[in-house]
Amino acid sequence: MINEFLPKIKEEILQIHTENELMNLKSKYLGKKGEFTAFTNSIKDLSIEEKKKQGPVINSVKKEIELIIADKFSEIKRLAIDKKLSEEKIDVSLPSKGVGYGSIHPLSQVSEEIVDIFLKFGFEVFEGPEIESDHYNFEALNIPRDHPARDMQDTFYLEKGELLRTHTSPMQVRIMEANEPPIKIISPGKVYRCDSDVTHTPMFHQIEGLLVDKNVTFGNLKGILNEFISRFFGGDIKTRFRPSYFPFTEPSAELDIEWKDKSGSKTWMEVLGCGMVNPKVFDSVGYSSDDFTGLAFGMGIERLAMIKFGITDIRYFYQNDLKFLKQF
Ligand code: PHE
Repeated sequence: MINEFLPKIKEEILQIHTENELMNLKSKYLGKKGEFTAFTNSIKDLSIEEKKKQGPVINSVKKEIELIIADKFSEIKRLAIDKKLSEEKIDVSLPSKGVGYGSIHPLSQVSEEIVDIFLKFGFEVFEGPEIESDHYNFEALNIPRDHPARDMQDTFYLEKGELLRTHTSPMQVRIMEANEPPIKIISPGKVYRCDSDVTHTPMFHQIEGLLVDKNVTFGNLKGILNEFISRFFGGDIKTRFRPSYFPFTEPSAELDIEWKDKSGSKTWMEVLGCGMVNPKVFDSVGYSSDDFTGLAFGMGIERLAMIKFGITDIRYFYQNDLKFLKQF
């Protein structure tokens, strides 16, 4: 009778391991058509006296059954969590899946390499604005009004007379304006010219160099740049300083290096522009050219990277093709 339910349920529940099985057991006894429900329904046929006696017994047995089921439910849950935790244990001895690392862009690598060399020579690094005024980009650098570099073709003009700097040389003026000699700086950054083919992109990178002090000579310029070339390209590289013209240096030169192409034949490659700071530039920043002389140089980072790595089209640098980038 009523006393048989609890032992029976306790016995059966031992065999139960899943939530589903437990739900079935619950409905087997406590469901609408469950055995215990059927039993409790049968008391309506009893006398009032008997009902009063049986009622509390039935209630307490029902509570007990519910408790047993609830306990079992928590046990099943707990076991499931334990199982999951033990399965998810991290085996630190397993080899990792491997992380896809990116790499530093070849132009950044080359730029950092150049900067490093000049840092070792004792130069300091300064960066300047890409949006410039006509004054800094041209006027103060002794680039006269009718100079070809001012053509609409070459320069991107902005509103209010501003422009995108066409070279890093305006930094010469900015640095000298704000400091007294001695000055020994380099200035890397983006420059812009309205030009596009296999060796030109509308945006490219330059590094400017400027050294101003007492008794700076063209010999110093040659010494610094020759040492730079030998460190950057490695080893014994022949150089030649070919007379050239820049409005802001006098005398001016272009530096060529002797370079072997893929077939092994030697050619002269132009790598940078340089010269002694033109006294007119000193005038525009208020330096006395009786007291000081200066050397300046400017090089294209893309150009140096193309020579060093044998890259034939400048546009590779900007296409973000992993097959290209992964080679560096
Ligand atoms: N600014 C020049 C150019 O862009 C390079 C240069 C810099 C030449 C400094 C001489 C001195 O071509």
